[in-house]
Amino acid sequence: MSGSTPDQRQSARLISTVDADKLPLFQYVEKIFSGPGGVPGRTNLLIRQPGKPVTHKILKINNLSSKGLSRFPNEIYELGSEISSPDAIMLRSTKLHDMEFDSNLKAIGRAGAGVNNIPVERLTEIGVPVFNAPGANANAVKELVIGSLFMAERNLHKAVSYTQGLTSVGEALDGEVEDGKKRFVGRELPNRTLGVIGLGAIGVEVANAAAALGMNVIGYDPAVTVSNAWQLSPEIEKANTVDEVLAKSEFLTFHVPLIEATKNMINSQRLSTLVDGVVVLNFARAGVVDEAAILAGLDSGKIKTYICDFPTSENIAHENAIALPHLGASTAEAEENCAIMVADQLREFLEHGTIKNAVNFPGIELSRKSDHRLALIHRNVPDMVGQISHQLGASSINILAMINESHHNVACTLIDTESAVGESTMAAIRDIEGLLKARQV
Ligand SMILES: NC(=O)c1ccc[n+]([C@@H]2O[C@H](COP(=O)([O-])OP(=O)(O)OC[C@H]3O[C@@H](n4cnc5c(N)ncnc54)[C@H](O)[C@@H]3O)[C@@H](O)[C@H]2O)c1
Repeated sequence: MSGSTPDQRQSARLISTVDADKLPLFQYVEKIFSGPGGVPGRTNLLIRQPGKPVTHKILKINNLSSKGLSRFPNEIYELGSEISSPDAIMLRSTKLHDMEFDSNLKAIGRAGAGVNNIPVERLTEIGVPVFNAPGANANAVKELVIGSLFMAERNLHKAVSYTQGLTSVGEALDGEVEDGKKRFVGRELPNRTLGVIGLGAIGVEVANAAAALGMNVIGYDPAVTVSNAWQLSPEIEKANTVDEVLAKSEFLTFHVPLIEATKNMINSQRLSTLVDGVVVLNFARAGVVDEAAILAGLDSGKIKTYICDFPTSENIAHENAIALPHLGASTAEAEENCAIMVADQLREFLEHGTIKNAVNFPGIELSRKSDHRLALIHRNVPDMVGQISHQLGASSINILAMINESHHNVACTLIDTESAVGESTMAAIRDIEGLLKARQV
């Protein structure tokens, strides 16, 4: 079981207010703030007391954006690719399924959206949240989807490959260009209908961008969040079923996670219900459409073009399929956004116990009421909070604020206490059955 080290406790934080000209006296200013906890008219600081530095060790795997890594201040973080017994692991796409996890591990940060490369269930069992970066790559995927609409309708891929194959020069070349262009006459997008399946971070951006281009957009998502629904342009039509979208759309784009309910959303049964000559875009995951059905649709002409981010030997061989080498999130900006978002989330968790965007734990946040905080992860079973507060009461420790959140069979509790919690009380809390991780932060 992991917990904070004596070093961490000696470096407790405190909230202080000072005059601005005294700022340089402080060893490490963590945050300058106003609002709750601050004193009006003063410069409010959250500072670290001079003393031994708090140290969190981050094992970084893969090439992570330096802007993201720079979010970890050197004073309190040690980062490296060879670190043993890390507090957190930050990575992009390396598969961790075969990795043994040390009991000191507190969190994993995946600088991306999907977490297929991470053994989430195993980590949940040992009380380790897995953070990801939902939405950080949404603009990158949106741009590729919109670019693909143009590519499909203006035959850009075929036109480029045509001109690259021209060998004549001068007037002969001009003649070939003029002759050839007739083969690539395209169509424009306004007033044509795009169906968007999945109105999450990416789907909303795609839908809004297509509407801004003058397209009619119809969207379907049985579990759209309130915040995503608010962001959706009002002209976007909301469908009640996938089939309604399939029956109306000249272009179809999928932005759903690959789960049981989203497997093979286009299959051989649904093929006949599609609009003739539909263009299908798949920048979600390979399995959200049944590729055999897509290829049959391309062969029959039911589907005019299939554009995806998931090459297979079959789709790259088809003249009307365009497979990109998984380029959806491959922009410098997306990689940077993901790394920054995940680094900030890891810091908030390691330093304050705050959880935001963990795929396996509930969101939790508590505005600090003292320098002494317990961050606890435990099973979601009766009387956990009762037993924890009993242990604190037995040690005469007063609770100033507390919050508890649960998600399926796990829960988190943050408790701010009036005084520090001693090692014997921490040990008693760790001994409670169902307690997975207990730290002082
Ligand atoms: N090509 C790439 O490089 C790339 C990059 C990023 C994301 N992705 C893929 O795109 C997917 C979507 O990403 P996001 O950031 O928008 O995720 P998101 O979680 O914000 O949105 C997914 C949406 O799908 C909806 N959904 C779930 N089941 C559905 C169903 N049966 N029918 C319709 N909608 C359903 C959810 O309610 C949610 O709103 C990801 O799961 C990932 O697989 C691919």
